[in-house]
Amino acid sequence: MTDWTIVPMAARHAAALAALDARCFSDPWTPEGYEAELSSGTACFFVAEQDGEVLGCAGMHCVCGECYVDRVFCSPDCRRRGVARSLMERLDRWARERRAAFITLEVRASNAPAAALYRSFGFEPAGIRRDFYSLPREDAVLMTKTYPKTEDDN
Ligand SMILES: CC(C)(COP(=O)(O)OP(=O)(O)OC[C@H]1O[C@@H](n2cnc3c(N)ncnc32)[C@H](O)[C@@H]1OP(=O)(O)O)[C@@H](O)C(=O)NCCC(=O)NCCS
Repeated sequence: MTDWTIVPMAARHAAALAALDARCFSDPWTPEGYEAELSSGTACFFVAEQDGEVLGCAGMHCVCGECYVDRVFCSPDCRRRGVARSLMERLDRWARERRAAFITLEVRASNAPAAALYRSFGFEPAGIRRDFYSLPREDAVLMTKTYPKTEDDN
């Protein structure tokens, strides 16, 4: 059983998300960056929280049935407890319920934990973006999950 809840991102999360983001990435988003997503009609961001504390976040943008994941992270203090999995489940469900064609993301070539997480959701390597990342410079592996078409989609 999980002891955190997954909620849609709200303005009250912005400062904590930016602080946690800075512990997880070399190119952290600012609080203003998170707040800006709240007024984006294409953004879908979820937060894992426990007793008011932010544990992690996953967010994407969806346009014309195409979902592009921007951020997935979990606090270094509570990894391997299923937080990222529960966040990814929400993105995946959101995309499926809206009959998205696919969900896709980039992951650093050396980021085996994240790649394992995505593979477990059915994402498959779909290409390489050379030198996509800086700090440090590194290739990105493009990973994509395609959703099956239903009769209603025809
Ligand atoms: C990658 C990350 C989001 C995983 O978060 P987490 O909450 O610890 O992950 P979970 O506990 O939900 O693990 C889910 C699955 O991911 C994979 N995984 C997670 N951490 C792993 C690790 N250190 N080694 C191998 N596989 C790992 C496993 O398949 C795991 O399932 P299992 O525990 O049943 O084996 C986290 O390590 C993180 O925030 N890293 C820094 C930011 C980052 O790299 N984000 C991804 C950018 S593309």
